[in-house]
Amino acid sequence: MVESSDEVQHGLQDVVALESRICFIDGKEGRLIYEGYDIRDLAARSTFEEVAYLLWYGRLPTTDQLAVLRHRLSQLRELPPSLAARIDSVPETATPMDVLRTAVSELALFEPEETRPGPSSIGGAQRLTAVLPSILAQFHRRRARLPRLEPRPDLSHAAYLLYALVNRVPTELEERALDVALILHADHELNASTFAARVTASTLSDLYSAVTSAVGTLKGPLHGGANERVMELLDEIGTADRVEEVVRAKLARHERIMGFGHRVYKVEDPRATILREWSRKIGEAKGDLRYYELLLKVEGVVHREKGLYPNVDLYSGSVYSHMGIPHDLFTPVFAASRVAGWTAHVLEEYQDLRLIRPMAKYIGPTDLPYVPIANRA
Ligand code: SDX
Repeated sequence: MVESSDEVQHGLQDVVALESRICFIDGKEGRLIYEGYDIRDLAARSTFEEVAYLLWYGRLPTTDQLAVLRHRLSQLRELPPSLAARIDSVPETATPMDVLRTAVSELALFEPEETRPGPSSIGGAQRLTAVLPSILAQFHRRRARLPRLEPRPDLSHAAYLLYALVNRVPTELEERALDVALILHADHELNASTFAARVTASTLSDLYSAVTSAVGTLKGPLHGGANERVMELLDEIGTADRVEEVVRAKLARHERIMGFGHRVYKVEDPRATILREWSRKIGEAKGDLRYYELLLKVEGVVHREKGLYPNVDLYSGSVYSHMGIPHDLFTPVFAASRVAGWTAHVLEEYQDLRLIRPMAKYIGPTDLPYVPIANRA
C-alpha cells in the first residue's frame, strides 16, 4: 500500500512521467517547440505535412522526402467500402467525435493487425492521419446532403480536409489558415489525449487502439471540446455590449469560460497569439470581424476578473467558422491534426517501452468482517 505520507498529485499536476524528444512546452515563457523547432517558425514557414514528417522522423524533410509523404498521404485517404457503409448506417444525429472514435476502432477490423504496418512502422501513422478527413466527410456529407466525396490527390492535407467537410476547394488564404491551425494543434507534449494514447501503447496494444483511446479523451470539454463551446458562448453573448454582463455572470457562478486557462501555460498560449491574428485575417477577408471583436472583449474581461490567458481553443473556432466548418466538427478537426502527435508519441513509446502504471493512495476502510448476504440489513 502507498505510504499515507506520499502526497497525491491530483490530475498528475506537475508530475514528470517520462522522457520524450517530441515536444517541449515552457509554461512560464509561453514557448512551444516540436523536435527543436519553435512553433512560431513552423507556423510561419512550414506546412502540416512537413510538421507531421518532423514529428514522425525527428527531422524536417528534404523536398523529395516531403513530396513522397504528400503523395503517400493522398493515396491513403480511401475508406474500406465496408467501413463507409458502416458509417452510413449510424444515425445522422450521432455526435461526430463518437463517429470518429467508432470509425477508427472499426477501421482496425477491416485492416487486420497482420496486414497493418508493424508497431514501429510509420505506415500506420500515415494511414490514420490520411484517413481521418475521409471518415469525417463520410458522416458529415450524408447528414448535410452534400455529394459523395471524390478523391482529390491534387489537394494538400489542409485543402483536402476543408474540401472533404464543406465540398469546396479553399481559397489560398483559407488553405493557409487551416494549414497553420493544423500545425498548431499537431502536438502538445503529454496532454490528456496523448497521455491516453501512450498508456494504451505502453501495454504493447496496437496503434489503432491507442488512437481510439486518444479520440475518446479529446472529446471532453476540458480538453478538445472547448473550441465548440467558445462559439456557443459567442452565440449566447450575441453583441459586444453584452460581453461584460454574460461573462461576469458566468464567473460569478464559478463556471469555466471555455478557451481560457491551461494546466501548463501560466502566460499566453503561443498558439492563441498566432490564431488571434488568423482570426482577424480571415474575418477581414470575409468582411466580418464580429467573432474576432467579441473574442477580444471576452479576453479583456476574463483577464481583468481572473487573470487568465487564452489557450489554443479561444480563436480556433472563429477561424473554422469563417470557412463554413460546422461547430460540431471543430473538435474532430482538432483530432485530424493531433493524430500526427498521438501517433508520434505511440511510436516513441514502442521504442522505449515501459508499462505506464501509477499508484493510487487508498483512502477506504480495511479489514472489514465479511457478512453473509442473509445477515445483511
Ligand atoms: C486544451 O494539456 C494540454 O496541453 C491541452 C491542450 C492541448 O493542446 O492538448 O492545450 C488543449 O485542452 C486547452 C484547454 C481547453 N479547455 C478549456 O479551455 C476549458 C476551460 N479551461 C479550464 O477548464 C482549465 O483552465 C483547464 C482544464 C484547461 C486547466 O485547469 P487546471 O490546470 O486543472 O486549473 P484549475 O482547474 O485548478 O483552475 C485553477 C483556478 C481555479 O480557480 P479557483 O477555483 O482556485 O479559484 O483557475 C480557475 C479555476 O476555477 N480557472 C478558470 C478557468 N480555468 C481555470 N476559471 C474560469 N474559466 C476558466 N477557463
